[in-house]
Amino acid sequence: MTQYDAIAEAYQDSKQLPFRKAIERYTLFEALGDVGGMAVLDLACGGGYYTRLLKRAGAASVTGVDVSPEMIRVAEREEARTPLGCSYLCRDVADLQPNPGTVDLAVAMYLLHYAGAPGKLLRFLRVCHDALRPGGRIVGFNDNVMRPPRGTVSWRKYGLEKTGPLSAPNEGDPIHYRFTNPDGGRFEFHNFFLKPETYHDAFRDAGFDDFRWLGVSLEPGERNNPFWDDFLANPPVVAYSATK
Ligand SMILES: C[S@@+](CC[C@H](N)C(=O)[O-])C[C@H]1O[C@@H](n2cnc3c(N)ncnc32)[C@H](O)[C@@H]1O
Repeated sequence: MTQYDAIAEAYQDSKQLPFRKAIERYTLFEALGDVGGMAVLDLACGGGYYTRLLKRAGAASVTGVDVSPEMIRVAEREEARTPLGCSYLCRDVADLQPNPGTVDLAVAMYLLHYAGAPGKLLRFLRVCHDALRPGGRIVGFNDNVMRPPRGTVSWRKYGLEKTGPLSAPNEGDPIHYRFTNPDGGRFEFHNFFLKPETYHDAFRDAGFDDFRWLGVSLEPGERNNPFWDDFLANPPVVAYSATK
């Protein structure tokens, strides 16, 4: 059983928090540009929130991959309720053996910080690199490893709290997340810290040219709303991209 099996429904509900749409979803789709006609892999797809959005945005095919059977069950239930043609695979991304060079875009929303060790991070990225055609991209979100929490840091008004070690974290240290959903439901999970330079090294060693952290951006309609100031001053999560 994976940690997400116990929180699959609550995690899906957290997609209703305002930052998911105004920052996470907006930043991702700004970074992606036009996905029309693309063959897409959605790695660590969870309940398929982005798998479905990518398909609705015009991708020719989207395959979601997740290690949690319960997350995949939620994704398949949504596909059964509203068929969009998304397909799903319950698998550790490290064990995938994709057809080489067949994918235009790998989306990896909150996958890489589950590596826990540099070797597994490199394995995730080698899988992506193998799958992508030349010029294909990997785009995703990650824990903001540039600003690890010292002890507990609260983004409470956004529904989020994080806890890390009191001193500078070491490779593989857990970072705990606590969410409070709009309906008051609470749930927790953890991922694993790796240094920013470990990410740079792993992307380079996997064969990617131009890995970079993209930060976050706020959807235009919210830009005069001071509610977002604290999030933007200290983003708990960040986007990244790289090209094969
Ligand atoms: C924070 S959730 C993100 C889900 C989805 N991408 C989203 O943004 O809604 C992280 C997901 O990563 C999955 N995961 C963690 N390690 C994985 C691995 N090695 N292979 C595949 N999925 C993994 C978890 O099961 C969980 O569903």
